[in-house]
Order: sequence, then structure tokens, then C-alpha cells
Amino acid sequence: MSFWMKKSKIIATCAKGVSPYLQAEMRDLNFPVHAVGEAAVETEGALEDAMTLNLNLRTAHRVLYLYHAFTANTLDDLYRRLVRLSWEEVLDTDGYVCVTSFADTPAIRDGRIVNLKGKDAVADRFRQVSDRRPDSGAARDRTVIHLYWKHNQVLVYLDTSGDSLSKRGYRKIPLQAPMQETLAASVLLAAGWQGEGHFINPMCGSGTLAIEAALIALNRAPGLVRTNYGFMHLKGFTPSHWRDMRTRARKAVRKQLPGKIVATDVRREAVDAARQNARTAGVDHLIDFAVCDYRETPVPEGNGMIMFNPAYGERMGEIAALEAVYQGVGDFFKQQGPGYRGYIFTGNPALAKKIGLKTKRRIPFFNGEIECRLLEYELYAGSRKRPPAPVTDNENEEDQTQEAP
Ligand SMILES: C[S@@+](CC[C@H](N)C(=O)[O-])C[C@H]1O[C@@H](n2cnc3c(N)ncnc32)[C@H](O)[C@@H]1O
Repeated sequence: MSFWMKKSKIIATCAKGVSPYLQAEMRDLNFPVHAVGEAAVETEGALEDAMTLNLNLRTAHRVLYLYHAFTANTLDDLYRRLVRLSWEEVLDTDGYVCVTSFADTPAIRDGRIVNLKGKDAVADRFRQVSDRRPDSGAARDRTVIHLYWKHNQVLVYLDTSGDSLSKRGYRKIPLQAPMQETLAASVLLAAGWQGEGHFINPMCGSGTLAIEAALIALNRAPGLVRTNYGFMHLKGFTPSHWRDMRTRARKAVRKQLPGKIVATDVRREAVDAARQNARTAGVDHLIDFAVCDYRETPVPEGNGMIMFNPAYGERMGEIAALEAVYQGVGDFFKQQGPGYRGYIFTGNPALAKKIGLKTKRRIPFFNGEIECRLLEYELYAGSRKRPPAPVTDNENEEDQTQEAP
């Protein structure tokens, strides 16, 4: 039986704290959830199921398919067990393999040695059964084997994603401090964005939030743009199955959105990049782009979400300058937001206090190692003013009506 037919454990990994949203996505795709960790969700299936997950999961970084498991106490044990596995059924002699690992075991002080042993074992196995062997290296764009070694347990995974799924393939022009695509999707799902109402994204930068919001609203699979996945470099991969899966995913895409998606930034180069990225993602026709200060972002009548991801600054000088920006975001919420839910994603809680509204929810996230928060504000109707009010002498009235109870 080809290993393609075999059901096994599948682990989808994600950023720390994102597993509640990943778990919900898995269930929506009708996958059972067997375990949930801080940065991973376990399910089961065959390799074709792993393909489905790669195509559809918005919040996952990698989809790992368990190929074998054994015990090992030393590096020699690891090598002896790995060299016995039939790697020739997994990859071609003229292929290329990358071995990655996580090791938490007394035998290992430097994890890189595990990758090297893994590569040696695969190469030596090929030498035993053939006169040629695949190349190996650190690039993750072809076959990737992941070794998870905890205490004396070794789990040998096929990394069916290869490069992280956060690289969707649409962000050709990244700009400074872009949000990872998977983080943007996680933030949107945490906020409850399903495509109802309008989505307003001032300070859009390279457009990640607006693009991911459009993809979610359209029910468009996030993996449709990307052309390369780890599973494509496993022996036995059938391109026609992948084509069929993509065709089915395309048929499920909604044609129209009920609301508007608006993305603005003060820098023309940012808006140009965001528009280009949206075009690559196939959603530019659904987003109204404009170059303007965030305070001039048009907010349509109705309801929905207004979401900001301003810089959160590293140096004292920057932070001082940002205080006024955060205050301004609070004013924008008060003046333009009634009827909407307001959100700010930031890694600086002190700056967030400058918003001056009562926070309804604080949802924790990690942007790399930086602890961040998505803060939600309920914005109440009553004193919406247009165009955005310059500072006037009736500020008191706004304060009374906008502060959440
Ligand atoms: C942290 S970046 C946003 C990154 C974005 N989420 C992405 O994925 O690329 C902050 C953005 O705010 C924009 N910005 C700063 N001050 C602004 C202002 N006064 N009005 C509008 N945009 C502003 C910057 O040009 C920058 O693109």
C-alpha cells in the first residue's frame, strides 16, 4: 500500500496563542480535533487530507504528516532507526531533501546535529538501495522531513507545507513591518470577521489585513495563489488530484460581498504595494484603496469593523510621537465609528491606553516574540460626525456619548 493511502496523525502548527482559531478552522473543514497545544492542533488523515488542510487553513504555519515513530536515546539510535526507513518510497533519487528538527532530549545540546544525522541517514539509505541519492540542504522548497524528538520518543514527520503557509504568495511587495498573513487571518477570525458588514482598514501598509478580510469574506481558500508546497515533492503526488481540489475550492468562492472593504494609508508607495498585492491575491476589485491620512478614511454608513495596526515603536522618541497617533485613532473611533466595532492590534499596551475608550475585549497574540493584543471597542451611535471633526469646542459632547458603558 502506498504511504499516500495510509491514515496517520496530522499536526498543524501555528503561532503561539493561535490554536483556538486553528482548531475552529479544522472543525469547520470537518476534521476531528484530537489534541490542542499552545501552537499546534492534532488531527488525522491521509496525505490528501494534508493537501486539503494546506489549501484551506488560514491560521496554520505547517501541516505535518506523521510518517513513522520510534524510540531513541542517542544520536546513534536515531541514525540506526532512520536509515532503516524506506526513504526511496518518499522521494526521488534526483530529488532534494531538507531535514528540520525539534529536540528536547538529554543526548542533544545543539539541534543542528539532529538535522545532519537525519540527512546522513537518508543519503546512506539511498546508497544502500541505489547508485544515486538526492541532494540535501537547508532550502524548504522541496521535500522536507521534520524530526520531533522529545525525551526518547522520535516522531518522523513529512512536512507537507515546506515553506511556511504564512507565505501565501500574494505579497510581492512587503514594505516595512508587514503583518504575517497567518497572523492577519488569525486576528480577523478572533474578531469574528466573517464578511458581514464593512471592513475599514486605515494605515493598511502592504494591505495584509484588508486582503485577508476579503479572502475570508469571499470564502476563498488562502492557498489558491501559492504554487509550491512540500507535498508536491513527495513521490506519488498526483497533480490532477491537486487540480481537482483547487477547482472545487474556486467553485466555493462567493462572487460578491455584502459590504465594502476600504484600505488607506498616508504613503502612496504603501497603497500602490497593497493594491498590487491584492491584485495578485485576486481581490483588488473588492477593495477601495485611497492615499490619505487615517483621519480622512471614508467610513460608509452601516456597520462592520474598523481595524488599525499602527506602528508600536521601539525607541523612546518614536513612542512619544506615536502617543498622538493613538489618541487620534481614539478620536477617529469616536467620530467615525458609531455602529461599528473598533479594533487596534498593537504590541504596546501603554500606547493603547491613549485610545481613551473602554476596552470590550483584549485578545492576546504573539508577533514573533513580541506579545501583542487585539483590543476591541464597541462604538455607540449618537454623535457621528462627518467629515472627521477637527478639534472643536464641543469635545465634551463627544466624550459623553462615545465612552463605552
Ligand atoms: C505597522 S504598519 C501597518 C502594516 C500592515 N498591517 C501590513 O500588513 O503591511 C503602519 C502603517 O501606518 C501608516 N501610517 C502612519 N501614519 C499614518 C497616518 N497619519 N495616516 C495614515 N497612515 C499612516 C504607515 O505608512 C504604515 O504603512
